[in-house]
Amino acid sequence: MTQKFTLNVNGIVHTVDADPDMPLLYALRDNIGLNNPHFGCGLAQCGACTVMVDGEAHFSCQLPIAGLQGRPIKTVEGLGTAEKPGPLQKAFMEEQAAQCGYCINGWLMTAAAFLRDRKKPTEAEIRDALSGLKCRCGTHISILKAVKRAAEMMG
Ligand code: FES
Ligand code: FES
Repeated sequence: MTQKFTLNVNGIVHTVDADPDMPLLYALRDNIGLNNPHFGCGLAQCGACTVMVDGEAHFSCQLPIAGLQGRPIKTVEGLGTAEKPGPLQKAFMEEQAAQCGYCINGWLMTAAAFLRDRKKPTEAEIRDALSGLKCRCGTHISILKAVKRAAEMMG
């Protein structure tokens, strides 16, 4: 049976009528109408669905919405806009760090959560922070350069 849930996404409160077990990923895309995060595997293996909850990166395909009421959720849409991109988005554009772009949501949100607390990370720390993500196009080197560039801009 469906219930009403209030979700705070990028600072805006949305009411979603859904099954308590429904993954946050579906609420964000189907109920709220955001274009990110993306569905990749649905099995916690790719990271395309990553969002921030309470400032930490999480796979939204694995988070039932019942436990998320009142907790701040951030998606790529909360990092900046096409007109005013945030530093991570700028760095990804400057490094041309995408091919098809399908996975990029995951890298952006994981890096955003990581760089929130880590001002001058080493390359090894960045690699470690991003190690749970997959890119089928093999753009890992450009992505690494983009996150390093963003870290410099933000640090
Ligand atoms: S879609 Fe969530 S980890 Fe792949
Ligand atoms: S850019 Fe295509 S899957 Fe990563």
